[in-house]
Amino acid sequence: MHEIPIITIDGPSGSGKGTVSRAVAKTLGWSLLDSGALYRLVALGARRASVSLDDGPALAQLAGRIDIRFDSSPGGDEVVWLDGQEVTRAIRTEQAGGDASRVASLGEVRGALLDRQRRFAAPPGLVADGRDMGTVVFPWARPKIFLDASPAERALRRYKQLKEKGVAANLAALSLEIAERDRRDSTRTASPLVASADATVLDTTGMSVDEVIGRVLKIAREFV
Ligand code: DC
Repeated sequence: MHEIPIITIDGPSGSGKGTVSRAVAKTLGWSLLDSGALYRLVALGARRASVSLDDGPALAQLAGRIDIRFDSSPGGDEVVWLDGQEVTRAIRTEQAGGDASRVASLGEVRGALLDRQRRFAAPPGLVADGRDMGTVVFPWARPKIFLDASPAERALRRYKQLKEKGVAANLAALSLEIAERDRRDSTRTASPLVASADATVLDTTGMSVDEVIGRVLKIAREFV
């Protein structure tokens, strides 16, 4: 497993990780691990099975047994399946993100997803997007990138993203939600959101998505 090239891209909500990771994986022709989607799927599965979002052992068991599939539509859009049901949009709501952050604070859930995440590594390479990709899940990866941006810019990016998708959004409420998620993701004891000591930290405030993708690809090409 350690011979497979892996690039980790970690950072807080709204830092642009998702868009950048997808573009980098596509350019290199590598697979993509969207680890946030796994936490979102566990949270959604728990809601649907009436499992409490605070019940670590029950959530860990659920995380181990749910059937998760990532496909693409004929048009190339991502399609996500949970136990045979299409949940592409259901996992992307702000509610699902908040629920994911809650279940992700539990060590039992993180442990249950560890092997599942590592199995995404496959030749010719993997781009792993998340919060603890470089610190816990793939500590041997090279290079490791940590994307950041000011809280105000991250809230604005999220707002625009939701508007583009036709989802109603309120900037003030989003800023509060992002601040709450940052606080929970950074202060939890199990794998908190933190840049790996050997990560390249990129502050993307004021940068366009294309600029960030260009910078990450340049760093990636020094290693692969
Ligand atoms: O990246 P995202 O917004 O889809 O992630 C949803 C939540 O899942 C996020 O608030 C924190 C959690 N998460 C995590 O703890 N570790 C990861 N590797 C990815 C996501």
